Amino acid sequence: MDIRIHAPLDMHLHLREGALLRLVAPLSARDFAGAVIMPNLVPAVDTLERLATYRAEVEAATAPHTFAPLMTLFFRQYDEALLTAVRPHIIGVKLYPEGVTTNSADGVRDLQRIEPTLAVLERLGIPLLVHGESHGFVLDREAEFLRTYTRWANLFPRLTIVMEHITTAAAVRLLDEYANLAATVTLHHLLLTLDDVVGGLLSPHAFCKPIAKRPEDRAALLEAALHAHPRLMFGSDSAPHPVERKEAAGCAAGIFSAPVSLPLLAELFARHDALDQLQAFVSDNARTVYGITPPAKTVTLAERPWQVPARYGEVVPFYAGQTLAWQVVEVA
Ligand code: DOR
Ligand code: ZN
Repeated sequence: MDIRIHAPLDMHLHLREGALLRLVAPLSARDFAGAVIMPNLVPAVDTLERLATYRAEVEAATAPHTFAPLMTLFFRQYDEALLTAVRPHIIGVKLYPEGVTTNSADGVRDLQRIEPTLAVLERLGIPLLVHGESHGFVLDREAEFLRTYTRWANLFPRLTIVMEHITTAAAVRLLDEYANLAATVTLHHLLLTLDDVVGGLLSPHAFCKPIAKRPEDRAALLEAALHAHPRLMFGSDSAPHPVERKEAAGCAAGIFSAPVSLPLLAELFARHDALDQLQAFVSDNARTVYGITPPAKTVTLAERPWQVPARYGEVVPFYAGQTLAWQVVEVA
């Protein structure tokens, strides 16, 4: 059996910089027609100049693949002039609450103080992408942040707010309540629960933020993805860290899933007899939510086993060493 996907998109991707970027970026660029590139570098991508330099670095690393880097700007209290100037060059602004994840020490401390900037984003039609976690108990962080999404969805009805990498059934329910809310979901949150992270031997390569939750949360996410909920988009949150930062006391959060994303999605959707929904989940929904037209690119996946490498350079991939049932066999 095989399946063709037109212009698959990864709507949440970490590519890093330098040698690590040159290692991982071609793997996404081979399989996807475009991706939303996260700005949590050190220093963050928070100026027009830095944005241009970073885009050029991404383009150099992804050539000659057909691949559109959809750039994001790290949220700050920008004024209208800066946002107007940057608007043609970005797909959205990415907001991190202070300290909730990798390279977010410089994030937002007071979520109410920034609302004037959200009003400007709304006026200019720039989507707001959010890492939605509070500073509470780890399993409750996303649920607690839903209050903020609700507040902003009401206050800014014309602002597109993307709840990034949702992990809870409650977030799926909220998606249905507000037309201006959209969401991404990762591959790993469709596959893992907290048991896979800490239920047996501690598994650093399954550790990410937000952490995987309960079986009923995973079931709700899977249900929404398999039915291609129109405002739910695939976003891998593929986040490579060198092996010594993962297999360490003080393991860095992030799962490197880029090279296995489409094969594992095909396997998952096939297992649930939902392959006909995959096109919407990995491309069409994102086109509608963001109003984008990705470059033409057709990716064919076939049911043909392959073994995931144990390493890509210094990075251990998701499902390292395991045999997957599907693979990308043609890109045209
Ligand atoms: O697990 C994660 N890793 N979650 C994030 O929010 C950031 C990411 C990273 O940049 O490593
Ligand atoms: Zn991320």
